[in-house]
Amino acid sequence: MMRSCSCLCVFRAPLALAMAALLWLNASPAIAQPPAGKPVSFINDIAPIFKESCFGCHGAKSPKGKLDMTKFATLRKGGTKDDPIVEGKPDDSYLMDVLVATDKKRMPPLESGDPLPKEKVALIQRWIKEGAKLDSGLKADADLVRELRVRWAPPAPPASYPFPVTVTAMAFTPDSKKLVVGGHHELNVFDATTGLLEKRVRTRSRRAMAMTFLPDNNLIVAGGRPGEEGDVRVYNIALKGKVEGGIEVLDGVNDKKVMIKQLGDSDDEILALAVSADGKKIAAGGCDRIVNVWDISGGVDKAKPEASIENHADWVFGVAFSDDAKKLYTASRDKTAKVWDLVAKESMLTFPDHQNTVYGIISASGGKAGLSVGEDNQVRMWSATGDKGGKSIRNANHGKPVFRVAAVPGKPMVVTCSADMTVRSWNAETLVAGKSMSGFTDHVYAVAASPNGNLVAGGAFNGEVRVFNLTDGTLVKAFNASPGLNQKK
Ligand code: HEC
Repeated sequence: MMRSCSCLCVFRAPLALAMAALLWLNASPAIAQPPAGKPVSFINDIAPIFKESCFGCHGAKSPKGKLDMTKFATLRKGGTKDDPIVEGKPDDSYLMDVLVATDKKRMPPLESGDPLPKEKVALIQRWIKEGAKLDSGLKADADLVRELRVRWAPPAPPASYPFPVTVTAMAFTPDSKKLVVGGHHELNVFDATTGLLEKRVRTRSRRAMAMTFLPDNNLIVAGGRPGEEGDVRVYNIALKGKVEGGIEVLDGVNDKKVMIKQLGDSDDEILALAVSADGKKIAAGGCDRIVNVWDISGGVDKAKPEASIENHADWVFGVAFSDDAKKLYTASRDKTAKVWDLVAKESMLTFPDHQNTVYGIISASGGKAGLSVGEDNQVRMWSATGDKGGKSIRNANHGKPVFRVAAVPGKPMVVTCSADMTVRSWNAETLVAGKSMSGFTDHVYAVAASPNGNLVAGGAFNGEVRVFNLTDGTLVKAFNASPGLNQKK
């Protein structure tokens, strides 16, 4: 599907490794034929085929041939032609005609690739022969994309990783002692100074794209599965897990004491997340271009939707609140950074200078400025108030694309991470360069500063995590965040 966040092109990635990871992450089981005695199920057997091969053109929005296949009801209504299915009679069903045709009538169309594999065509044929039934309990007008998503069960993360997992999000625990790093369907908790893995928290989400601790010490994480689903979930990772091989394990998929709240549920990945300084608001945005804001002043379990903002023409990569939480800063693949007035509920200004993808954004100068980073290699500070709103104040060159920016708590300092394989610190006001922290052997996609302002961690495409002392830029610990990666099997 066109709107999908195709997994690894979120950022640019070295090819060989990208391919390996892609095969691993996207491996789907071969289609299984239901046993002869068991009837074919529309939702379990047929809808997944339609989703993979047909929804791209026959979706809910302007479907080709006016045929919307994303609901059983609209499929049976037909498009420019009538109902393409004659129950019990595959030979009389137009749907079968288009699947087996070899001329321009064929679906998917000749120019769009191979025909459906024979087993899949046979399965559809059998389903029609059995009466083209809809599963009991499923409504004819149910959104099949959502129904399939709800039915999807996440795999368990591998005990030891066959490939390194790209680090796309990290956060220090509130005591600054541990580092939570996103893995493959899990969050892994490491001791920040020894690099030892202490806890694994299973998640439904395939990967985390952003995470941060809430004032109540619960961890809020945004992410999902590229092109499939996006979510924002809140976890209590402080709970004691059951110990497996010396490591604590928590079930953040099914255990409601661990995964305590889900906010939002979308068709594609959530990439960005922010909590306001007073801890009363959350904002998240991603591939559907929308930024949602929730009021959590009554606790995260009582989160109330406050706003749903569609202000960008492409994926939202970054969100941040102004210090007073009255404005929202956003960064997008549409090559702009923007400021939204949450009180007046309107767009305030656009900062266009990056002229390329803007990956990260924070509020600066006590909320008077925005600080954004992007594909143009620059760290840019710009005015967010008055007549000069949207005008550049100053910028600093990183040499290569800059993926994230974070403020350092309690210090007039920001940190960035980049394709130049470094994590750097900068004066938050003057953008004078501080330390350049290196030793990574790949693009650094995630950066996190510790709440006590003493440490910074960078996480790279190849799973490397390096923790540095922010005062002098020295290395504290380096480790790979993919559990068991170098273990002999
Ligand atoms: C690349 C886009 C594309 C894909 C993928 C695709 N279709 Fe189509 N489909 C079309 C177009 C375009 C038409 C209209 C053709 C016409 O009117 O001549 C159409 C028309 C149809 C129709 C006739 C609808 C009507 O009432 O006129 C059926 C049935 C159909 N497609 C089934 C399928 C099925 C089943 C799949 C998946 C296996 C599929 N299509 C995948 C583009 C696509």
